[in-house]
Amino acid sequence: MSWTIERIEQVFLGYMEEHGHAIIEGHSVRSPTDDVLFTTAGMHPLVPYLHGDEAHPAGKRLTDVQRCVRTTDIDEVGDDTHLTVFEMLGNWSIGDYFKETSIPQSFGLLTGEFGIDPHSLYVTVFAGDDEVPADDEAPIIWERTFREAGVDPTGRINPLGADDNWWSNGPVGLCGPDTEIFVHVGDNEAPAFADIPEFVEIWNNVFMSYDRAEDGSLTVLDQRNVDTGMGLERLAMFLNDHTSVWETDELALLLSEVASALAVDQSSLDEDGIRSLRIVTDHLRAGLAIAAAGIYPSASRQGYVLRKLIRRAVRHAELLRGTDENLADVLIECTQRVSSVMGQRWPDVAPGEGGAAARETIEKETRKFSRTLRRGVDHLTQEAEQGTVFDGDLAFTLADTLGYPVELSAEEATRIGMSIVPGWEKRYLELREEQRARSRS
Ligand code: SER
Repeated sequence: MSWTIERIEQVFLGYMEEHGHAIIEGHSVRSPTDDVLFTTAGMHPLVPYLHGDEAHPAGKRLTDVQRCVRTTDIDEVGDDTHLTVFEMLGNWSIGDYFKETSIPQSFGLLTGEFGIDPHSLYVTVFAGDDEVPADDEAPIIWERTFREAGVDPTGRINPLGADDNWWSNGPVGLCGPDTEIFVHVGDNEAPAFADIPEFVEIWNNVFMSYDRAEDGSLTVLDQRNVDTGMGLERLAMFLNDHTSVWETDELALLLSEVASALAVDQSSLDEDGIRSLRIVTDHLRAGLAIAAAGIYPSASRQGYVLRKLIRRAVRHAELLRGTDENLADVLIECTQRVSSVMGQRWPDVAPGEGGAAARETIEKETRKFSRTLRRGVDHLTQEAEQGTVFDGDLAFTLADTLGYPVELSAEEATRIGMSIVPGWEKRYLELREEQRARSRS
């Protein structure tokens, strides 16, 4: 039986529930705090409880599946592993159990429920730095855990420094040493552990017992917590022996639905085409999740991220289909297909009433931007036909008069073979600055 996303989620939550964890709802992707834009980790919405400021109403052992957005990954999307919204399977001890329970508990899930060969598991632990001594408990617990499973722990438990094995939720706040669990996916029978592609990190158990203040000082919390996080899509990729998250059941279905709505044949796409199809699919999926959090496209903060995602989706859909009068309608059909597939697990983006608001947000912006894009591309094509070069003045005119975003006009100019004047960005920024100064005066 294959490991579908839904089955993995059920097995994870079921195991954690059997081990005394209350299943809670994940938070929306809108950050619970003002310092960052989006929810970036499963622990993020739980900060007040992990901090010991409040008792969580569901108790001291919690588990959930949290949608997370890491905006730094947006430009990587299209490769085999990056997604704008990914889901994190997590379990927490809020001042309840600590390392001696957490480590065998994680090992039991991976090797028991998920059937991973314990001989393929390798871990890292915190080696200490000039602030905090090495974690000498985690290695002992790991040794015992491996031995009890009949596995020789030699070479499997690797101490690394703070760059690798200290987790924090930003420059200040909760943090602590962690132990990361890797699976060996290479052919080598007795590999030496190193951060190489033969090892895939699947789970991070953070022993969250410190708090960093604004002045950089570190205090030990009164309460010892555990915060674990495992990327759902990456786990699905590994459990099914795939080499890309896009081969896993839900994402593969999404890709084929979007390809069919775009009327493109996946099997005939080249590398750039595959990348574009993944971008359209990812960005509509993420766009729906972000819109479902009550965020609207705008020129700043979360709204800007949403706008950028929709614009890129429109742009890449156009690259796949070519010039097209019906682009907006096609994208709206794509959005509906994404809503149908993701709505099976994400009720706030589902077809019908549940996801109506999110779909409407995406649809409006798509229509608006498709018109802009059309005008921008037509204008640029005419310029190219007349032999005009792409320089800062042209980029500025397109952005200023047509609203055609500079990052897209430059990309399109390159694609249609216009000559690009070196240093055009500097001239563009000067013109933009002059215009801003004029509008201020
Ligand atoms: N907070 C840790 C992470 O995001 C473990 O959940 O990796």
